[in-house]
Amino acid sequence: MAERGIKNEVDVITIDGPSGSGKGTISRLLANRLGWHFLDSGALYRLVGLAATRHAIKFNDTSGLATLAAHLDVEFVSDEDGMETKIYLEGEEVTNTIRSEECGDDASKIAAVQAVRDSLFERQRAFSVAPGLVADGRDMGTVIFPGARLKVFLTASLEERATRRYKQLKEKGLNANLSALLEELSGRDERDRNRSSSPLVVADGAVTIDTSSMGIDEVVEKVSDLWQQVSA
Ligand code: C5P
Repeated sequence: MAERGIKNEVDVITIDGPSGSGKGTISRLLANRLGWHFLDSGALYRLVGLAATRHAIKFNDTSGLATLAAHLDVEFVSDEDGMETKIYLEGEEVTNTIRSEECGDDASKIAAVQAVRDSLFERQRAFSVAPGLVADGRDMGTVIFPGARLKVFLTASLEERATRRYKQLKEKGLNANLSALLEELSGRDERDRNRSSSPLVVADGAVTIDTSSMGIDEVVEKVSDLWQQVSA
């Protein structure tokens, strides 16, 4: 296992924050602009949750979950411009399936299991390949890439985040209900912030950006500017 706390040899920008803060879209756009790799760590937790359900592994079976996470057969296949990634679990495409609120909720339950997090540690570290990596998640700056040169914490009001998630789900043709989303997001936030294993906290040295009243391009510009400053 890599020494935790070492400086990354490859340039890494970590983007952490709660659901709906814009992390996913912004990280992907930023990676694209820099010509870097992109890690959607939340997808890994969603995949473990889905695989556990499919293999009838109970969420309180911590060793079963850890073994599953360690041997998870997943593939991320990006299109040419890097803006769309197809995700495969055991050979089956599950790109949209894992985006449901149910999968998000299951992900947050199994993400509280330290053994699952340990099983996914090396898999996530392996994404830091030249020329660089934008890593999106909850513990990218605190646990997985503590030596990242730029750490960003994105946030937004609960109402704004629920509305964004509502639009995203609708665009994907999935079912969505705004008041149910508000409740689910606040429950998930609560669990992610208060768990003992890698809780969602602002990493030391991270720059916090409240995206509530910012457009996507504006946030990408801001993070790019921050990167120019630290890498100059
Ligand atoms: O980002 P996304 O909504 O896909 O993440 C789903 C869940 O996975 C989160 O609510 C969180 O509990 C968990 N997660 C995590 N650590 C990460 C990424 C996601 O615990 N680095």
